[in-house]
Amino acid sequence: MSQHRGAWKNRWTFMLATAGSAIGLGNIWKLPYMIGVNGGSAFVLVFIACIFFVGIPLMMTEIMLGRRAQKNPFNAMQQLAAEANASSLWKYLGAMGMVAGVLILGFYSVIGGWVLSYITFALQGSFTAISPAQSSVNFDNLLKSPYLLITWHTVFMVMTMWVVARGVSSGLEKANNILIPALFAILLILLGYSMSVGDMQAAYHFMFSPDFSKITPVAMLSALGHAFFSLSLGMGSVMVYGSYLQRNVSIANTTICIALVDTLLGLLVGLAIYALVFANHLTPNAGPGLIFQTLPIAFGHMPFGNVFAALFFTLVAFAAWTSAISLVEPTIAWVVENTQVKRPFATLCLGIVIWLIGIAVSLSFSVWKDITIMFGFGIFDSLDKLTSTIMLPLGGLLMAIFAGYVMKPHHRQDELNLGIRYYTIWKITNNIIAPMAILLIFLYLLGLIG
Ligand code: PFF
Repeated sequence: MSQHRGAWKNRWTFMLATAGSAIGLGNIWKLPYMIGVNGGSAFVLVFIACIFFVGIPLMMTEIMLGRRAQKNPFNAMQQLAAEANASSLWKYLGAMGMVAGVLILGFYSVIGGWVLSYITFALQGSFTAISPAQSSVNFDNLLKSPYLLITWHTVFMVMTMWVVARGVSSGLEKANNILIPALFAILLILLGYSMSVGDMQAAYHFMFSPDFSKITPVAMLSALGHAFFSLSLGMGSVMVYGSYLQRNVSIANTTICIALVDTLLGLLVGLAIYALVFANHLTPNAGPGLIFQTLPIAFGHMPFGNVFAALFFTLVAFAAWTSAISLVEPTIAWVVENTQVKRPFATLCLGIVIWLIGIAVSLSFSVWKDITIMFGFGIFDSLDKLTSTIMLPLGGLLMAIFAGYVMKPHHRQDELNLGIRYYTIWKITNNIIAPMAILLIFLYLLGLIG
């Protein structure tokens, strides 16, 4: 029944697509404000530890599972479980990932819409010599205009689903070749500017001088969740990309490169932002609006600032776009590989569901502000917390357990294809450190230990 599956042309296209999935709003929008909300350096330290001890090994695991099965996450888990004579219930791990992807895109697309609207603000020259107060007012006005939010969210959804409908190999991968380096370049310009006018010392101190007293269980869970979010782990995106990957590519090298670039990018944005925050006496814990309130101030005071701002937000929109595509690819691959439904129609139907979720999110910043759905959180916060701090780490935990304890050892060894030393490191992190870290944080939060 299955229709034709795409495949990456070579290692480089896979790497760019996976980096495209990883690099997105998570690095540029989310990491900086999470650092501020969770107490600065304590969060950064735990986040980096999570990337190295949990993120990197689990990214290898997820790619390995996808490539071994060569299928979408649901069928992949079903097949791998059969191969290991394990319960077929494992397939629901794939299903949970698909649901997580849909829920994430529901709010991700709204933030993507904020970025698009900031491109138009820049093009209208509205950042020229803007004051911090004026910048905050601009952002609040955007949040208070549901029509504007919904319009931009719709544009972002149409852009995303259009690429998804066309399929994996004809998508955006080639564009990543230029876009990721361009994003780095403009970031360095921004960083240089922040260094010259901002308070880089305070930013550095805030982000990197460790203060262990600020490491709380909630900050740890947020850092862990963000490591998953930032590397696109725990929901099958990386698994489905791995399933299109040829057998002769080294999973370990590719993973390490992606994780390093992804983390570095996020931390650089953080430094650039906090140097401005401290120099302008803004509050570090401004929340999701942080970059939208601070960056216009920087752009508004530099030569050709509006041009740079338009360029910057355009690159961020591209980064968000390539991530958004990977959020729906698992579900679309599942429909296409299991039914007669064609890709474009499947994409349209799924797009409508996500678009409706996004409308609810857009309204939650104004008219639906008081609606709470989970533990007293509003619509946006509930979706964010449910996915990043529960579904993704849980997905990662189960994948680690499956790969480490259920799968036949020679299957994973074949696929990872590592020397004995690196295989042992992977095994210790995948089988012991990563699952223990996730479990301990979950148990602590449930009040069962500590
Ligand atoms: N990693 C993306 C970012 O940092 O913006 C977001 C994301 C994409 C999360 C794909 C999860 C995912 F499966």
